[in-house]
Amino acid sequence: MLKRFDQLFGIDLGTSNTVIYQKGKGIVLNEPTVIAFDQLSGELLAAGTEAQAMIGRAPAHVEITYPLVNGVISNFEKTSSMLKYFVKKLQGRASFLRGSQMFISVPCGITNVQKRAIEETVVIKGAKKAVAVEEPLASALGAGLSLDEPLGHLVLNIGGGTCQVAVLSLGGVVASNTLNRAGMTLDQDIMDYVKRQYNMEIGERTAEEIKKQVGTALDSTPERTIDIRGRDLVNGLPRSIRLTSTEIFTVVNEFLIVLVETIRSTLELCPPELAGDVIEQGMLLCGGGALIEGIDERIRLETGVPVHIAESPMECTALGTGMMLGCHRVGDSGSSLIRLEPQPEESA
Ligand SMILES: Nc1ncnc2c1ncn2[C@@H]1O[C@H](COP(=O)(O)OP(=O)(O)OP(=O)(O)O)[C@@H](O)[C@H]1O
Ligand SMILES: [Mg+2]
Repeated sequence: MLKRFDQLFGIDLGTSNTVIYQKGKGIVLNEPTVIAFDQLSGELLAAGTEAQAMIGRAPAHVEITYPLVNGVISNFEKTSSMLKYFVKKLQGRASFLRGSQMFISVPCGITNVQKRAIEETVVIKGAKKAVAVEEPLASALGAGLSLDEPLGHLVLNIGGGTCQVAVLSLGGVVASNTLNRAGMTLDQDIMDYVKRQYNMEIGERTAEEIKKQVGTALDSTPERTIDIRGRDLVNGLPRSIRLTSTEIFTVVNEFLIVLVETIRSTLELCPPELAGDVIEQGMLLCGGGALIEGIDERIRLETGVPVHIAESPMECTALGTGMMLGCHRVGDSGSSLIRLEPQPEESA
């Protein structure tokens, strides 16, 4: 039973970014999924933007980690400490969890046991109810697709830790594939490229900046350059180089070849009627990777399916979890079917 004064949160707990939607307020937080832990005192020093600012600059006893790997929580204790930290930042107190209900997005393809582990972790921390929902369903809803019709939709989410391709129909996932390569491995690929090509070491934030500034999915884009700094591996001294978009295209291209193959194999898994719907409707592209220059055009050229980028590609999943708040899910906690029926409300 939903109480009128329950606080309702929709959370996109992503490998790179955590986005929180609060019912009645909209998106209230969007921060990197990073935590800084003091190994001497065992205390959480910072999370989100503040922890990210410490990457590559922290003393040895400060451990900076991503508590999710490829979309899945790798450390429950640290993940819930991070959520608590965010909430405290939002509300000035950590006790808000009490009486709250949360819908949390999870990658599709994780097991029911993993889903329940996430739900239980949040409930143990004080939430009244937690529901794990498949990320593609949430993204599609948040991007404005209506899911209750018998019509196939293809959603491609290019996140930080995973790329998820899912064909949805009647509120459920009909076929899906998850690729454990995405924005963060692309950053790593760029770091490896610079090391190989220039004998120079760069940090992951620099690699991400290179990807955002000169990364492209098309070899025909006008050339752009970026000046970056790193450490020379031969003499150990700081050094500057200029990189071009043509070079970074070769790195992005290797990732795209694998991604396109994943899209193709998902379409192969999908019943022919739904595949027909997808060709007609086009695919929805979301997640931070949707912002790579020319990626929509490249995927359309390679697959023949029209591509529409979501209006807010990095926020639509949280918006979608927000739209599910206060609703029932049909089936048990393992079911991926969703039906948005308002929950009965108690007067207080
Ligand atoms: N302009 C941009 N160009 C290219 N990549 C970008 C851009 N902006 C953000 N990204 C990348 O998008 C990724 C984050 O996307 P998103 O927030 O959707 O991931 P996530 O939800 O945290 O991860 P996942 O869904 O895999 O768990 C990061 O790797 C980031 O570098
Ligand atoms: Mg995501």
